[in-house]
Amino acid sequence: STVENGNFEWSAPSNIALVKYWGKKDNQIPANPSVSFTLNKCKTVTKLAFAKKENQVSFSFDLLFEGKPKEDFKPKIRKFLERIEVYLPFLKDYHFTIDTQNTFPHSSGIASSASGMAALAMNFMSLEKLLNPEITDDYFYQKASFLARLGSGSACRSVKGNVVVWGTQKNIKGSTDLFGVAFPYTIHENFQNYQDTILLVDKGEKQVSSTVGHDLMHHHPYAYSRFVQAHENLDQLTAIFENGNVAEFIKVVESEALTLHAMMMTSMPYYILMKPNTLQIINTIWKFRNETNVPVCFTLDAGANVHVLYPENVKEKVLQFIQDELVGFCQNGQYICDEIGAGAIAL
Ligand code: PMV
Repeated sequence: STVENGNFEWSAPSNIALVKYWGKKDNQIPANPSVSFTLNKCKTVTKLAFAKKENQVSFSFDLLFEGKPKEDFKPKIRKFLERIEVYLPFLKDYHFTIDTQNTFPHSSGIASSASGMAALAMNFMSLEKLLNPEITDDYFYQKASFLARLGSGSACRSVKGNVVVWGTQKNIKGSTDLFGVAFPYTIHENFQNYQDTILLVDKGEKQVSSTVGHDLMHHHPYAYSRFVQAHENLDQLTAIFENGNVAEFIKVVESEALTLHAMMMTSMPYYILMKPNTLQIINTIWKFRNETNVPVCFTLDAGANVHVLYPENVKEKVLQFIQDELVGFCQNGQYICDEIGAGAIAL
């Protein structure tokens, strides 16, 4: 092609799963469908500069994280390039400079793989679009999510906005194992502008990588029932998104979080990913909800941090509650106020 050099810049948000993806088959095909809220403020911003090169037999790229060369991220990126090359055959024609940063604190324990892989995939799709201007918007976003999935499964849910489904589910039109799709039905106003305050309980290195975690679902004694349950929970949430029943939403979401951790506790080897303060927070949320009827609940990733979820109309009450009763359980009192957001954005 005749395109010699240039650059793009995209931001992509993190996302928080309501029905969890945990367990996969080959090529990042999920063992069960999942659904997430796309976040708004927790983002990765990635600039991709590209320049045509002579040698077209190997990948060539530099990686900058927060403006500085970052060698230890390179193997992960190289593996990603190897996986996506068959879908983007021009990758070896260019030298890339990937310049990336997160809007959330570096060592917060918030996984940046979803937002990071999504932001990178968007940039590569911009290059594809430059080389093939005829591709449609639908193709662009679907393929971006498809590529992001090959970087990190949950990253495919960080391309589109608000509520995203990934994984084939009978009653959800257009759902597929190959990429994330925006939830295709109307969502009740109770779930619009939903809030997510992320309490940073433990900023330490992850005890278990998600790769190892997913693998533990092979030969897991409860894997089959878990995968069946995830489908059922997604059916329930589909109905809840339509009827606006926040009490039922809370049951499904909290049960999903605890089930994810139960899977880790009942695998071989077994892990406890919660910290004492994770449990303190959960119990304090339950007590507050019982006493006040404020519809606040929690969810968890594969770690100790707690995502506090609540409708926008109780924001003041919940933030006051967090200040009064939960901040003491956070490492250095740190938490991040986020909310549902719109997906990846070209800058
Ligand atoms: O995308 P991965 O492979 O890092 O897996 C993420 C898994 C969870 O965050 C625990 C759940 C989910 O659906 O996001």
